[in-house]
Amino acid sequence: MSDWYSNVHLVVRWLHVIAGITWIGHLYFFNFVNVPLQGALDDATKKAVNPQLMPRALWWFRWGAMITFLAGLVLFTLLYMYTPGVGFGPSSLMVDADGLTDRAMWILFGMTLAFIMWYNVWMIIWPAQRRLLTGKVPAADIPAVRRRAFLASRTNTFLSGPMLFGMLAPSHYGAMNSGSALLAIGLGALAIWCSIRASSSVGKLA
Ligand code: HEM
Repeated sequence: MSDWYSNVHLVVRWLHVIAGITWIGHLYFFNFVNVPLQGALDDATKKAVNPQLMPRALWWFRWGAMITFLAGLVLFTLLYMYTPGVGFGPSSLMVDADGLTDRAMWILFGMTLAFIMWYNVWMIIWPAQRRLLTGKVPAADIPAVRRRAFLASRTNTFLSGPMLFGMLAPSHYGAMNSGSALLAIGLGALAIWCSIRASSSVGKLA
């Protein structure tokens, strides 16, 4: 067994990633599977399926987001705001003689995108879906509320690509500059765009 710090660090990192998979897995299910599926169902089938499917999927989705976020903040504190044997305060991963390290810039880039995504889940997508599922939205407002939830969900899907670069680059890459940040944004967004394009036709291959 390693020292307590290494064990706590590994368990928090593991919790963070397993919760992140739960969150982003459901986000991709909603965007790549459920959007085209709903378009193919008639109203009677939607009324039978959605009250069973959506509350379950939304539960894993929003609580996955919350645990990812909280474990991520603990991980950030352990790595960047704490030094074993010294105490709390910016660690050597956070600042060096030149100021903010490249590693810190990468994780701050990833965390900023992830925070916007967490906000969209808890402040826009879930409140809208809860009101829709409990029948609290007047009929005339339903399309606008659905659209708002859809746009927040689509935004999150696009942000997830570059956000994951920001999560992986701190310990697996290095240099953070405008070129590497643009590469992360471009490749991340391209992967999501290709997946959305594919999602409207994959059902036809089955
Ligand atoms: C919600 C806000 C989030 C915060 C505050 C956060 C914070 C962090 C921090 C501090 C690290 C450690 C970086 C380092 O090693 O220097 C990290 C790593 C990581 N995060 Fe996040 N994160 C968030 C969201 C996410 C999401 C949504 C995912 C999706 C799966 C994710 C997946 C990962 C992965 C895979 C790693 C790298 C693990 C490794 O290389 O060992 N994070 N995150």
